[in-house]
Amino acid sequence: MTREKLSSRLGFLMLAAGSAVGLGNVWRFPYIVGENGGAAFVIVYLAFLAILGFPLLAVELGIGRGANKSLAAALGTLSPPRFSRFWRSIGSLLASGCFVLMIYYTDVCGWLLKYASDYARLSPPDCTTSFAQLTGNWKICTAFMITVVTISTLVCLMGVVKGVERTTKWMMLSLLLLLIVLAIKALTLPGAAEGLEFYLKPDWARFMENPLKSIFAAMGQAFFTLSLGIGSMTICASYVGKDHSLVKESLVIILIDTFVALLAGLVIFPACATYGVEYTSGPGLIFEALPKVFEKMPGGVLWGGVFFLFLALAALTTVVAVFECLIAGLMDIFGLKRFSASIIVGIAVAALSMPCVLSENVLKWEDFAVSQLWLPIGALIQSIFVVNGTFGWGWKNFRAAVSIGRGPKMPSFMKWHYVIVVPLLILLVLFSGF
Ligand code: ALA
Repeated sequence: MTREKLSSRLGFLMLAAGSAVGLGNVWRFPYIVGENGGAAFVIVYLAFLAILGFPLLAVELGIGRGANKSLAAALGTLSPPRFSRFWRSIGSLLASGCFVLMIYYTDVCGWLLKYASDYARLSPPDCTTSFAQLTGNWKICTAFMITVVTISTLVCLMGVVKGVERTTKWMMLSLLLLLIVLAIKALTLPGAAEGLEFYLKPDWARFMENPLKSIFAAMGQAFFTLSLGIGSMTICASYVGKDHSLVKESLVIILIDTFVALLAGLVIFPACATYGVEYTSGPGLIFEALPKVFEKMPGGVLWGGVFFLFLALAALTTVVAVFECLIAGLMDIFGLKRFSASIIVGIAVAALSMPCVLSENVLKWEDFAVSQLWLPIGALIQSIFVVNGTFGWGWKNFRAAVSIGRGPKMPSFMKWHYVIVVPLLILLVLFSGF
C-alpha cells in the first residue's frame, strides 16, 4: 500500500510545529524562565536550540523522509540489512518514549480542558483551592483525560490528511491567533513594563546563583520542546514530499516553536506583574497563579477562557501528533490497519494514564523518565545512527536526504558537530538528570 502524503507544505509545518508546540512552550517554558533569571535563561536556551535542537531535529526529520516510515521501521529500513532487526528493536524502544509521554501528558491536557470548560460555563476555578481539588478528584481527572484520548483517537482514525493534517492545521492557526490577541491584551496592561523588564532584561546575577542548574534546565527544555529522540518528528516527515530541504524545514519549525514560547512569556509576565503574582511560582504558575490574575482582571472570565482554550489547543496538537506516531508505528511494524491500531493506542493510553491520574508522584517520575532519559538517549542513538555508515545509515546518505529540495543544504562540516559537540552535550544533559 502506498503511504499517504500530506496535502500541503503548510499542513506539514503545522503538524510538525503542532507536535513541538505544547505544554513545553506554554507551561514549562514560562515557569522555568521565571525560576532561572528571566532573559538570561532565555538567551542560553536559544543558544541550545541552535547548537542541539536544530541538528537533532534535522536528524528526526531526515530519518522520517528518508524511509517514509515511523521511527522503528525507518531505522530498520535505512540500516545495512544485517543490522536491520537490531535497529528495529532499538527504534521500538525509543518510540515507546512517545507512549510514556502520553500517559501523563493526556492527564495534564485534561486539566487544561477542565479549566477551559469552567471558564466557558462562567464558573472560573477558585484559585485558592481549585487546583488541589481538581488533582485530588480522580473521577473528574479521569473523565477529562478520557475526553482528550477520545478526541485524539477519533482524529487519527479519520486518516492522515482528513484527520491529522486538517485538524492540527486548524488548531495551530487558531492557537496562533489566540496567542496574538492575548499578547496584545497583556502588553496593554498597566504592569506590562515591569513584567517585560523581568522577561527581556537579562538578570545574570540570578542566573549565576545556580548556573549549572540553569544551564541543564535550558538544555532539557530544548529537548522537551522539540520532543527529540522518540520519533514524534520522524512521523511528520514520513508523510512529506521532497520539494523543500529539511534543513530549511527544521529552521522554520524551530522558529514557530520559539515564537510561541516567547509570546507565551509575553502574555504571562506582564499579567503577573500587573496583578502582583510571583513569577517564580514554579509548575503551579499556570494552574494556581494565573487564575488569580484573571480573577482580578476586568473581563477576566473571558480572558481566562481564551487563555485556557489556547493552552488546551497547544497540548492537543501534541497529543494528536504523538498518537499518530504510535498508531503509524503499530501499522508499520505489525501490519495493523489504522482502525485497529488507533483503538489499541487509545485504550492502552487511557488505561495506563490511570496511575498518573491517581498519583502526582507518578507524573513526576514519568516526566523525569521521558525528559531526562528517553529524549537525550534517543537523540544520542539517532545521531550515532546518522553519522556511522558501518552499522547505521551513514553521514553521506543522511546529508543527501536532508538536503534534497529547495533551500539550504546540510554543510559538510556539520559532521564534526554531530560527532563531537552533540554527543558531549547530550551526555551532559543525561548527567544533569541524576
Ligand atoms: N514538544 C512537546 C511539548 O513541548 C512535548 O509539549
